Amino acid sequence: MCGIIGYVGKMDAVAIILEGLKKLEYRGYDSAGLAVYNNGIQVVKQEGRLDALQARIDASPLTANMGIGHTRWATHGEPSDVNSHPHMGSQNKIAIVHNGIIENYKQLKEYLEQKGIVFASQTDSEVIAQLAEYYYEGDILDAVIHVVGRLEGSFALGIMCADNPDMFIAVKKDNPLIVGVSDHGQFIASDVPAVLKHTSNVYYLNDREIAVLRADEVEFLNFDKEPLAKTVETVTWSLDSAEKGGYPHFMLKEIMEQPKILKDTINTIISSGDNQEIIDGIDINKYNKIVMTACGSAYNAGVVAKYVFEQLCRVPVEVDLASEFRYKDAIIDEKTLVIIISQSGETADTIAAMREAKAKGAVTLAVVNVVGSTIAKEADYCLFTAAGPEIAVATTKAFSAQLVILYVLAVRFAAGYGKLSPTQEAGFLSEIAQLPEKVTEILEQLDGIQKYASTCVGYKSIFFIGRNIDYAIALEGSLKLKEISYIHSEAYAGGELKHGTISLIEDNTLVVAIANCERLFSKLMSNVEQVISRGAKVLLVSNHPDALPDEVTSCITLPLSGDLFSPSLSVIALQLFSYYVAANKGLDIDKPRNLAKSVTVE
Ligand code: AGP
Repeated sequence: MCGIIGYVGKMDAVAIILEGLKKLEYRGYDSAGLAVYNNGIQVVKQEGRLDALQARIDASPLTANMGIGHTRWATHGEPSDVNSHPHMGSQNKIAIVHNGIIENYKQLKEYLEQKGIVFASQTDSEVIAQLAEYYYEGDILDAVIHVVGRLEGSFALGIMCADNPDMFIAVKKDNPLIVGVSDHGQFIASDVPAVLKHTSNVYYLNDREIAVLRADEVEFLNFDKEPLAKTVETVTWSLDSAEKGGYPHFMLKEIMEQPKILKDTINTIISSGDNQEIIDGIDINKYNKIVMTACGSAYNAGVVAKYVFEQLCRVPVEVDLASEFRYKDAIIDEKTLVIIISQSGETADTIAAMREAKAKGAVTLAVVNVVGSTIAKEADYCLFTAAGPEIAVATTKAFSAQLVILYVLAVRFAAGYGKLSPTQEAGFLSEIAQLPEKVTEILEQLDGIQKYASTCVGYKSIFFIGRNIDYAIALEGSLKLKEISYIHSEAYAGGELKHGTISLIEDNTLVVAIANCERLFSKLMSNVEQVISRGAKVLLVSNHPDALPDEVTSCITLPLSGDLFSPSLSVIALQLFSYYVAANKGLDIDKPRNLAKSVTVE
């Protein structure tokens, strides 16, 4: 995934682009660059983080009122100066920035090379610039229309032409792109936080739409060059929600925001609000099968939810990785409810899984954080988590918000199936409503967790075990640790360890045991004994601290809660543990190596 931004207006385009790229750097940071109009198109681009580009421009200042910028997560061609965006055609006439993948770039490249065009980079994106120059006959919009008719794959584009000093073009297919409008100029960006400092008024481009931006107006049209009337939307996110607010990392800020996020999300789905109305409109008795599909942490939220749904609704629930679901020829139909979980709403595999479910006639219910995202727009129903912009690549607050929405869905559907009386339903909803204050209690243990985590930086591998719903949240704990600390980790069902992996437990292996599930607590304690007897150190994460074996010296105590919703408490401890292990290793926690916030490519 990459980040793109563009501006045309009365203000300094270079400063606006660099500022916007800073907000987009979480989307990819292998290289950065910009192209501005200053007596023709000037391109400055290089491998490495945005700071390096900023320093280069500080050393040789540029001024302009129009430009496009890009921060890259490499897909085709290694991170290098020449593979950085923007890419220009060999005539230096047209510059482009691209987020996505051109699936037929090899054929197009061969076609153009046969015409004598010489390519500079190994990227798929350069094909777009070269093709645009190949078709250009004086009208850049016509050339763009021609180009997009030839491209296969996903592309969010910003396009400038040296003959048009006062206008640039944006194109959207599959990957997100918004248009921001203000009284001093017009913007494009991969997401809202990049322009929030200048405007809250945005247009969400839909697939196969084009925007032509000038300093004082924006025109919209489709790939057939037909004009489009679009409605401007006002974003409710505040600017500071996309700022660090004094924390060392966005991730820690977002961990600490969780009590508020949970309260806000619960309010939209329990007391009143759009989410509640949507759920009221779903007759669960129309469906005889429930499937959940997602990627990464969103998938882990689905695994947790499976236990809650099956316990309360007493119906089987399948959970599939979206990258598997999209190709498995799933056994679903119009009587299947497919729940799509995604923070960004732009994950390529999850979008494909949703479209596959719809193609088979299933009804899709999305749980999404980003308003205006592809999944939010295409799902039959969409429940929004009120997590606000989540900047850290490793999700925390959005994950927690997904959990509470899924809990409430399980309770409401169980009531719909007649499995819960109104009193029981109210009781579970009340338990969920108490989670924010219990999360606050765990956050108050931050210093103790930080102290313990500082002793864990040397481990080469850390195991997470749990039983039942504790095993489900162990998956998320393990993923969090891996993606930000680069320490290998595995999550195991406590009862499964002895079937092979226990051979890896040796002196000083660290095992994080999550033990809240009341009826299986003693079973998990016997697993703890098994690993201790083989030399392991154990960190217990539990709401039963009084019952732990003598040898367990480290414990994060959780407030008591019902088994079903305890993952919302366990995960806070696991997030803080992973954060402080990574912080003690001095790693770039908000932008871990090789990762991107939303994987918008397959
Ligand atoms: C979460 O910490 C990871 N960065 C990643 O697994 C993420 O959950 C996954 O890519 C799915 O993203 P989505 O929720 O935006 O679809």
